[in-house]
Amino acid sequence: MEGFAGKVAVVTGAGSGIGQALAIELGRSGAAVAISDVDTEGLAVTEERLKAIGASVKADRLDVTEREAFQAYADAVVEHFGKVNQVYNNAGIAYVGDVEVMPFKDIERVMDVDFWGVVNGTKVFLPHLIASGDGHVINVSSLFGIFSVPGQSAYNSAKFAVRGFTEALRQEMIANGHPVKVTAVHPGGIKTAIMRNATAAEGVDKEGLTKTFDQRLTITTPEKAAREILTAVRKNKARVLVGPDAKILDILVRLTGSGYQRLFTTAVSRLVPNAH
Ligand SMILES: NC(=O)c1ccc[n+]([C@@H]2O[C@H](COP(=O)([O-])OP(=O)(O)OC[C@H]3O[C@@H](n4cnc5c(N)ncnc54)[C@H](O)[C@@H]3O)[C@@H](O)[C@H]2O)c1
Repeated sequence: MEGFAGKVAVVTGAGSGIGQALAIELGRSGAAVAISDVDTEGLAVTEERLKAIGASVKADRLDVTEREAFQAYADAVVEHFGKVNQVYNNAGIAYVGDVEVMPFKDIERVMDVDFWGVVNGTKVFLPHLIASGDGHVINVSSLFGIFSVPGQSAYNSAKFAVRGFTEALRQEMIANGHPVKVTAVHPGGIKTAIMRNATAAEGVDKEGLTKTFDQRLTITTPEKAAREILTAVRKNKARVLVGPDAKILDILVRLTGSGYQRLFTTAVSRLVPNAH
């Protein structure tokens, strides 16, 4: 497979899970990598692993919701490496709770990280990506950006919004003749810390839910997910469904239209009784 030698890639949320695996796979493919996270301990692990494989790496603490800091970060990355080719807006959080009981602040927090974090990362790097002459924005949505499930309205909203934003951006780049490719990423269940790191509305059995998620709903490793994502990037795919569950459920939703909601209301309640 074609490598990324000579390319500069930015990965947010690179201290764990998919972001960590992406950063390492990019480093292995020859890219110089700018990694960031709010979790500096996890980030240090990623940095060490990148250094161990001889990759050029710049590691910084960055909260993707802090727009001014993000702008300053983009400028610093370009100053450090001279350019930026790829931006993986990957940082994200999960939250579980029904609309009825969910405080506004929790919905806003999920939108801030999962949607606005992606918008911030795209906007601050876009001029640099255009200037590079060979840019690519990779925005991580979710399978939950393709269909909704009970107990996930905040996350569903943010991930649907990422999909809308990303699909419009891809068309704009083509229409405006800019040298920037755009890919929306929709992972199914990936074996990461996302549910362990998640928060939940009062009354939700978070521990039980984490156990169900880890044992029954995740089938793809972050490393496999990263390889699938990078294959899609190499092929300039508009959309990548990551993992077999994502591919199958996407077809099911397309076949049933809004009818999937009836199926999922029953299925999710049986499979994840502690989700809401
Ligand atoms: N794991 C899955 O099953 C799955 C499925 C679909 C989509 N996703 C998406 O994949 C992305 C990566 O998630 P993951 O599964 O690797 O989870 P993870 O919890 O293992 O990693 C997410 C990383 O993002 C960081 N982060 C959280 N808030 C941040 C902020 N405000 N600023 C900067 N960094 C922040 C965390 O510290 C963590 O290191 C997320 O956008 C998630 O929504 C994951």
